[in-house]
Amino acid sequence: MIKKWLIQFWGDLRTSADAGLLGVARFVGLLYGPIDRNLRIDEAWRKALRYRLAEHVGWRHALGGITYVLLMVLVVTGVLLAFYYRPSVEEAYPSIQHIVSEVSFGWLIRDLHVWCANLIVVVALAHMARVFFEAAYKPPREMNWIVGLALLAVVLAFGATGYLLPWDQWAYWTVTEVLDAIALIPLFGGLLADAIRGDVIASGATLSRFFALHVIVLPWITLALVSYHFTLIRRRGLAPPMTAADEGGRKWRVSGMWVDEEPTGGRPFFPNHLLRSFAVAVLTLAVAVTLAILFPRQVGEPANPYLVPDELVSTWVPVDVSLALIRFTGTWGLALFSLLGVGLILLPVFDRRPERGLRQRPVAVALGAVFFVGFLAAWLAGQQIRSVPPTARPQPDVVGAGQVQEVPLPDLGPTPPIPNPEDVGREP
Ligand code: HEM
Repeated sequence: MIKKWLIQFWGDLRTSADAGLLGVARFVGLLYGPIDRNLRIDEAWRKALRYRLAEHVGWRHALGGITYVLLMVLVVTGVLLAFYYRPSVEEAYPSIQHIVSEVSFGWLIRDLHVWCANLIVVVALAHMARVFFEAAYKPPREMNWIVGLALLAVVLAFGATGYLLPWDQWAYWTVTEVLDAIALIPLFGGLLADAIRGDVIASGATLSRFFALHVIVLPWITLALVSYHFTLIRRRGLAPPMTAADEGGRKWRVSGMWVDEEPTGGRPFFPNHLLRSFAVAVLTLAVAVTLAILFPRQVGEPANPYLVPDELVSTWVPVDVSLALIRFTGTWGLALFSLLGVGLILLPVFDRRPERGLRQRPVAVALGAVFFVGFLAAWLAGQQIRSVPPTARPQPDVVGAGQVQEVPLPDLGPTPPIPNPEDVGREP
């Protein structure tokens, strides 16, 4: 019976004239080249598999693919987490406790999610650095550079909104500090912080907003951006190797010689490049699982807006970077660094000359180096920060050392009750 269905299904596919179905295979990375929509689906499939990549495409071109694999792992683990997570002030923290201590392999799924959220930032930045230093952002690929930066912003927004979801003390007070810093930016800072927070302090309203952005808004934006990113890569082709001049055109290296025409030779996509991508994907997954098992993400105490914690433990790379910028350079440092990041959008607008060598574009290279080195330095510095925000601490003479430190906040009513984690999932 099953065999008959399979034969029937395959027959239907073969007779289908719509090769658009192959777009799915292309989106998940099984096909790279153009799809001939005039052919039958099986012939179009075979033709697409015969596609050859230029000879210079190597391991460094796997960075974009690794970013994509991490994104897919985040989607899968995120959906699994959403089966159990409850986005309310009362239930968020206990539901996380339930996931890590009672749900089968819940701890692994959660730690995989947290680790991949870190790895994707590092790998996406490495991919961006590869594109930047090889000047692959220059025309005709400037649009893809901008789409890539939008993707980076989305990846950061995913992490920032997800960071609050466990609703523990570390997440609560870190988000509070970053929002306070944003509020200090002149002109629009206050409005922006209020819009994100949705309340006078981080509260259930903030949690709902972050959750909605994290699981509804951002995934749709990501789908659109990734599809567009991949379409542009195929339309414009990968940037040719770095040569002295690449005026709107391509110079390809074939058997040690530079030629102007894209070679018919090069590296076959199937099976060579596909196997290489597969090896990279397996390796990435292995690294993520190993890190998740060896270094699980801890959970702090339940969030309490009235109690400043004794220490902050950061679990996401950009949090280290932001805290370092806020503590060591102030709000202006955070704003200027973000501006430098946003300024990279304009890079292909100003840097349009065909030269791609590092020495031929010193200003762009210097600005890029400041960005990447600055990020790395702030990351290292941020890892040392374990204290609570100084502004949130009351004066030393108000409370004795070692005592619980009450923050002088306005009276906002009683603290919401924090249910016992063991009650989660049980009928009332
Ligand atoms: C979720 C994030 C991202 C994913 C999944 C992704 C995926 C990819 C893939 C698979 C490729 C082709 C292989 C390669 O060159 O590595 C690529 C190329 C490219 N990406 Fe990304 N990327 C992401 C973020 C970025 C960022 C942050 C930038 C830059 C700001 C960027 C700019 C580009 C450009 C310009 C190319 C063409 C490179 C060339 O022609 O050599 N991408 N991307």
